[in-house]
This record gives sequence, C-alpha cells and structure tokens, in this order.
Amino acid sequence: MSLPVLIDCDTGIDDAIALTYLAARADVSISGIVSTAGNVDLPTVHRNNLALSELLGIDAPVCRGADQPLVQPLMTADDTHGASGLGDAVLPPTTRTEDPRAGAQLWVDTARAHPGEVVGLVLGPHTNLALALEIEPELPRLLRRLHIMGGAINHRGNTGATSEWNIAVDPEAAQRVLAAFTDAPTRPVMGALEATETVRFTQETLDRLIALAADTGHPVATILVDALRFYFAFHEADGFGWSAHVHDPLVAAHAVTGDFAATRSLAVDVELAGTLTRGQTVGDELGRWGRQPNLELLTDVRPEDFIEHLLGVLEQGLSA
Ligand code: RIB
Ligand code: CA
Repeated sequence: MSLPVLIDCDTGIDDAIALTYLAARADVSISGIVSTAGNVDLPTVHRNNLALSELLGIDAPVCRGADQPLVQPLMTADDTHGASGLGDAVLPPTTRTEDPRAGAQLWVDTARAHPGEVVGLVLGPHTNLALALEIEPELPRLLRRLHIMGGAINHRGNTGATSEWNIAVDPEAAQRVLAAFTDAPTRPVMGALEATETVRFTQETLDRLIALAADTGHPVATILVDALRFYFAFHEADGFGWSAHVHDPLVAAHAVTGDFAATRSLAVDVELAGTLTRGQTVGDELGRWGRQPNLELLTDVRPEDFIEHLLGVLEQGLSA
C-alpha cells in the first residue's frame, strides 16, 4: 500500500531534488503538487513543477497557488536558485497541463477525498495551506499528518538574522498554520534549519549525480547537476565553501520513512511584529507560555546516512 503525499513547494533546487526522490519511491503515491510562490515567482515555480512532473512521470494534478503571500509583497531568491528557480538547468518545454483548481482547493479536495490518509508536505511558504484552512478548517483532522521544512529554533536565520526563508516569505501564513494545527491528532513535524543545514552536499555528492547523468542520460539527472552547480556557487559566495545546504529532501525522506532524524516536542510560534525578528520561529523551551507543545522538531539528524540513502534512491529511480 503506497503512502499518499501532497507536496506544496516553491521549486527551487532542493524542492526539485525532493520531488525526484518522492517520485522514485514505489511506496509513495504523489496525490498532487501545489505550486507556491517563494524561491521564484509563481509562474516560474509552476512551470518547473509541470515540467518536472512530466519528466518524472508523476501522474498527479499540479495546481497553481496564490501569486502573493497573505500580507507582505512577494520576495524571491533569484540569487540562490537562479531566475529560473533551477539555476543554470535548461528545462525542455512541457506538454503537461495544469489542473485548473487553485492550489488551496487541491489541499482541501485531496484531504476530503481520503480522510486520515494523506501526508501533507510543505517545502515552501505556507501561503496556500493557510488559504486551504480558510476553505476547510477541518484540514488538520482530515490529513494523516503534516511535515514542514521551515523555521530556525535557537539558530540563526538564512533570510533575516533570525528568520528562515519559507517562514520569512509569508509569516502570517505560517503563524496561521501553526495555530490551526495546534489541536491536530498528530503534531506537525518541522524540519528547521538547525536540522536541515546538517545535510551538506559536497563535490563528492555532486560527482555521484554527474556520473548518474552520464550513465543514464536521464534529463532530470542533468537538470539537478546544472541546478546544483549554481546552488554551490551561491553557497560559496555566502561563505560556506563549494557546497550546498540541501533542506527539502531531508524533510521529505523523514516524512515517508520516519528515519534519518529523531524528534522532540516544543511549543513554537511565529514572530509577526518584531522590527528585527519578524518571521522568526520562536520555541518556548522553558514553558513560559503555558502552552502545550504544537510541533515535533527534527533533531539528531544522521546526515551521512541520509545522503547515501538519497543518492541510492535517486540512482535507482533515474536509472529505471
Ligand atoms: O530555507 C530553505 C527553504 O527555503 C527550502 O525549502 C528552500 O527551497 C527554500 O524554499
Ligand atoms: Ca523549498
């Protein structure tokens, strides 16, 4: 029995790796893809999702989300992911057509159609999940569970001094999602920067993907290599050396395997008013708020094991 997963992403280089990983797993059934504006603007994210879905043989609806965050104007990360969202990769034109529903509606329809079965996976800003909650407040009880890549708990930000990208793009949406899922039957799992930044691709990782592209000629392998070279150059310019923090695939793999990291419970909320800290995910480590924990945070990541697992699944999936 395969696990149904709805993916909400702002594709994006690491989103593309996560999509490829999930498409390669025979025990995962991708129920749908929601395109969310973030790393790049909505039309570009959506084009990437449509093209990758076709190249990966993902037979699932791909729906366009909102083109702006709930409150603040959209900011994009062209320096990080390139104007295309996939660095220097060249995507072939796609014949894949979008599902006409709004992304928020796809969340609602998918959860209602399979109550208690679908794993929600948010790899970008929370804009469309927040909009889906306005349509269907019962979503936290209709989903099997929710996994989020986002936030930074007692860890510097990668966007503001204290904010992580997916939360920083739409803090109001993230705050609404955390509030709505507070009473969910199972607490959402959050892979925040202190966990995901332990997953660091090096030239050795890139060489494995270069070999995969050469051995298979699979277009997605070439796309990932060309995208990652751009991503490495960004990280090098940012002072991290010729390498890349690859965030989304860890959260995706943990969502479907429960492996490669542990979790700890914590009450977390999103700062909306801070002049220096807007978008920060704040964890109440000492229970000062008197609230029950509302999240399971990824901890104790096993990065080497995970990277080997990820490469193995990608090699198996793109060689088939
Ligand atoms: O902060 C990292 C997150 O922001 C990742 O999901 C990356 O794709 C970007 O969306
Ligand atoms: Ca992402």
